Amino acid sequence: MEILLDEKAIQSRVRELAAEIERDHPDDDEIHLVCVLKGGFMFMSDLVRHMGPRVTLDFIAVSSYAKGTKSSGEVRMLKDLDSGLEGRNVIIVEDIVDTGLTLTYLQEILRARSPKSLRTACLLSKPSRRQVNVKVDYIGFTIEDHFVVGYGLDYAEKYRNLGHIAVLNGE
Ligand code: IMP
Repeated sequence: MEILLDEKAIQSRVRELAAEIERDHPDDDEIHLVCVLKGGFMFMSDLVRHMGPRVTLDFIAVSSYAKGTKSSGEVRMLKDLDSGLEGRNVIIVEDIVDTGLTLTYLQEILRARSPKSLRTACLLSKPSRRQVNVKVDYIGFTIEDHFVVGYGLDYAEKYRNLGHIAVLNGE
């Protein structure tokens, strides 16, 4: 597999994103990170290690039927958050924004819970694949239309544990 982004490049960009998120929340307000499972787990865990003690976190899991033949944007909730979002500064932490359908759904349902602010951080973005215009406040890297694995991203549940991002050959 061809390495697209090595561990060093990812770590230095994640550190920058963490600083940017902290800067955008100038008061001592809590910053509540919502990790989108499973793909967001490694990005989230590195992100929070570069942030201060005002960070709290939670996890949500959705399954997307947006790929393959069906691109209806139908998304199903698999695991909801443990706590409410009312009045909180919320950051959705997602691995990649592809068509944008999953993120659009997530932003809609989380916005309906009345957070004080709602922002989104994605490690990767594939703009050429976008079907809906979704706002992403923090993007780690913009990439071409490759199927990538590693750093949380899988192919058939494999390769999530890689510290780097690789292009899956044959895709
Ligand atoms: P979207 O709804 O099309 O934006 O899809 C988002 C989800 O599709 C991501 O959270 C990933 O789980 C998955 N996905 C999209 N592109 C890739 C990829 O290149 N590798 C692995 N998973 C991907």
